[in-house]
Amino acid sequence: MSIHIEAEPGQIAETVLLPGDPLRAEYIAKKFLNHDGDPVLYNKRRNMLGYTGTDFRGRRISVQGSGMGMPSLGIYVHELIHSYGVKRIIRVGTCGAYDKSLKLGDIILVEKACRDEHLTMPGFSWRHVPSSSVSLLIAAARAASNHGIRPHEGRIHSTDVFYDPNETDLLDDMPRKWQCWAAQGVLGVEMESAELFERASRNGVEALSILAVSDRLFDFSTQMSAEDRVRSADITAQIALGI
Ligand code: HPA
Repeated sequence: MSIHIEAEPGQIAETVLLPGDPLRAEYIAKKFLNHDGDPVLYNKRRNMLGYTGTDFRGRRISVQGSGMGMPSLGIYVHELIHSYGVKRIIRVGTCGAYDKSLKLGDIILVEKACRDEHLTMPGFSWRHVPSSSVSLLIAAARAASNHGIRPHEGRIHSTDVFYDPNETDLLDDMPRKWQCWAAQGVLGVEMESAELFERASRNGVEALSILAVSDRLFDFSTQMSAEDRVRSADITAQIALGI
């Protein structure tokens, strides 16, 4: 047992899917990890649900909620790696689009995740841009193509601030800060991947983020419906399980 996960040793698989929302973890477990009976719930602490089950290929896979943001994700990733020997972590989540060519529901396979300069782990340079695992990225691209999906591949921004009080200087249709990220070719924004990649690469663990575009920051009128969010969780989970 670790501080935040109450699983017994051996109850968590070497490969873990990591959605932010614990109810999405439950949804993915019950829908996709039921090929050898019901998935086993190994964590209820703080309602941050974690399950282990068997996928359509007979592989033992776990799915664990990470919570929102890098401080929360960092706790679960640390304990998965150090207390449970997890070897492969695939975040399945959503992001907001900076890039105007992205449409709602588009899939991004994240190559690298940039961080905000003022909010970093001690001893970590914000100029360092943590990367996902190339082998997982290539395998996910193949899995997406097998599902008839053409994903985007590229960099995203991982931020610790969802509601930024300084983002009021609207220039055209998008705050200046967001335009800067877009001008540098950063596709979108979420709140977890940089911490995942950093902790994974420091520990020889493979990591990837598969994100569905849930909102377009330059166009607040378009946000994903609740049903489309569930559909996007299906797609990101299916790509992850196709790896
Ligand atoms: N900002 C930060 N994180 C997100 C967003 C966003 O607009 N959409 C989904 N995750």
